[in-house]
Amino acid sequence: MLRLSNINSYYGEVQVLRDLSLEVNKGEVITVIGANAAGKSTMLSCISRTVTSFTGEIEFEGERIDLLRPDQVVERGLIQIPEGRLLFPKLTVRENLELGAYNKRSRAGRKEGLEYVYSFLPKLKEREGQMAGSLSGGEAQMCAIGRGLMANPILLMFDEPSLGLAPIVVLEIMELIKNIQKEGVTVLLVEQNVRQSLKLADRAYVIENGRILLEGTGTELLNSDQVKKAYLGI
Ligand SMILES: Nc1ncnc2c1ncn2[C@@H]1O[C@H](COP(=O)(O)OP(=O)(O)O)[C@@H](O)[C@H]1O
Ligand SMILES: [Mg+2]
Repeated sequence: MLRLSNINSYYGEVQVLRDLSLEVNKGEVITVIGANAAGKSTMLSCISRTVTSFTGEIEFEGERIDLLRPDQVVERGLIQIPEGRLLFPKLTVRENLELGAYNKRSRAGRKEGLEYVYSFLPKLKEREGQMAGSLSGGEAQMCAIGRGLMANPILLMFDEPSLGLAPIVVLEIMELIKNIQKEGVTVLLVEQNVRQSLKLADRAYVIENGRILLEGTGTELLNSDQVKKAYLGI
């Protein structure tokens, strides 16, 4: 469904992604794990086309998307949930959710979208009139995910959704991602939380200094000595 081929990306003179190739098949949860500054967010931003300084090819559903504008990528159903949630703190939960549906793809169905998101995430319904700035970390992440769902995604990209959350809340978010997969949405997840995100993954990649170092099923990587030593401290 999504294929990155030989991506090299640059910020000015500095190269971040190095000959990076990966594939996401329809219906999969793919996890990309890597340390801080490995290039995870840059990779997602290349796909979303909010970063454009890269070479290589990106294909989505059989068509090149690496020359499209960010809004055109969204229209194709490729939606990125940004690192750090990026909600509007002075807008309500409902207003933040509605902002997720400001594209042609989802505008028509905005009301149905909201009902769908509330049925999927009832906690957000309870909080709909509350300012997003007053949510707990876990609720804010749910709101960011809800906003992503409002865009009616085919493939949803998560950028470190577990960042800063208590372990029990991380489990809740991972469960939610699993349920999103069950709804038929394909998932590309980048994480530093190796254990939980590999448990969830159908397949996974390890990225180090902008390069793919390892790939395999979630279980294979969880059991790999390299991953254990470098990321799990065992
Ligand atoms: N807008 C930018 N301008 C210059 N350098 C950047 C920019 N964004 C990220 N970087 C650098 O690119 C590298 C990869 O960053 P990033 O993709 O954010 O990694 P990760 O998401 O894995 O933590 C880091 O060294 C970071 O400092
Ligand atoms: Mg990042």
